[in-house]
Amino acid sequence: MTRGGGEDAVTLLWALRSPCPLSCRYCYFGTIEEHRDSPVIGPGTLSHLSRNDLPTADVLAFARSIAGSAVKRVFLAGGEPLVWPPVLSLIEILKSGGVQVVVATNGIPLNRPDLTRALVDLQVDAVSVSLDSVDAAYHDAWRPARNGKDGWQQVIDGIGSLVTARGAAPAPRVGVYMVVTRHNLADLAATGRLAADLGCDYFVPQPVALDSDHTLHRQLSLTTDDLPALGQQFTALADAQLPVWTPQASYPGQVADAVRVPTGFVRGCFGGRSLFFIEPDGSVWDCPSSLRIAATPTSRRRTILDGAAAQVFAADDGRADCPLFSVDCVNMWPLMDFDQVLSTSAGTAS
Ligand SMILES: C[S@@+](CC[C@H](N)C(=O)[O-])C[C@H]1O[C@@H](n2cnc3c(N)ncnc32)[C@H](O)[C@@H]1O
Repeated sequence: MTRGGGEDAVTLLWALRSPCPLSCRYCYFGTIEEHRDSPVIGPGTLSHLSRNDLPTADVLAFARSIAGSAVKRVFLAGGEPLVWPPVLSLIEILKSGGVQVVVATNGIPLNRPDLTRALVDLQVDAVSVSLDSVDAAYHDAWRPARNGKDGWQQVIDGIGSLVTARGAAPAPRVGVYMVVTRHNLADLAATGRLAADLGCDYFVPQPVALDSDHTLHRQLSLTTDDLPALGQQFTALADAQLPVWTPQASYPGQVADAVRVPTGFVRGCFGGRSLFFIEPDGSVWDCPSSLRIAATPTSRRRTILDGAAAQVFAADDGRADCPLFSVDCVNMWPLMDFDQVLSTSAGTAS
């Protein structure tokens, strides 16, 4: 597999905080319930139980050091970044340092008018909202809120509130991210249409990534039996010519490759070169792939407390071949194509 493109700046995927008001059953952070019984302790293991999240002062100090470094774009995820009160201060620091900011959210916090106003006023570049289906019951079954109340309808309302708050402003672009499983595969094209109907600018369907020993792997992970239906859905999405950006034409094939082979070889990977992953404890990894994290030698373990961004992250045009291709990688490819998303005009994507 070859990864094209000319990324010469550094992109950070920053899992900012551990807590999240949702308990998505497939979440790569795992579930609080299982971690209460058996706490996770190894390096690089994520949990919604925020035992080691960095103090706010350390997060903001590191963010201040990003201006002028090779880091040009930061994806803020988590956990849920928009329920962490200092998030707006963090965004303000990044934006005033000339860094592009994309926020990944479950969408429910967007129902707070003060928050949507701030995201528009701060000129956040894009907001990616997780929405798994046109079917509210499906979404709510797999992405239940811990309060037992919020769900699909609040996500839809949240997207609407942000699109309305943006009005004719150039940013943020608003997009839908859909986790595709065996159960919602048939909804893929329809969910893209819903994103367009809601006034979104982009739609990214990404395959669920679950380790082979995960309890939901057999139930949710796509298999080769699903490939014909997957192909039909991607074709229907393309044929619909929706006014939203969707991943490039090679993406359906990349997803299919990831379904066919559990691991493989990636030629010229950007992981650890122009893409890095930061966890809530501040640890820095070459990429979010669980295989790659597990294979990280102790000598390469770093944290954002090691120094300023210019020292921790240096732009590196060279690329390294990686033998650890997995379904995790596929999810990074649309993210590294975000130049295309951010070059669309908000509200008029095509
Ligand atoms: C962990 S969430 C954090 C940001 C935010 N709370 C949200 O819900 O979007 C980031 C994205 O990863 C997706 N995700 C979580 N677990 C996944 C998995 N096992 N495979 C693929 N995507 C996953 C989520 O649906 C969401 O789109």
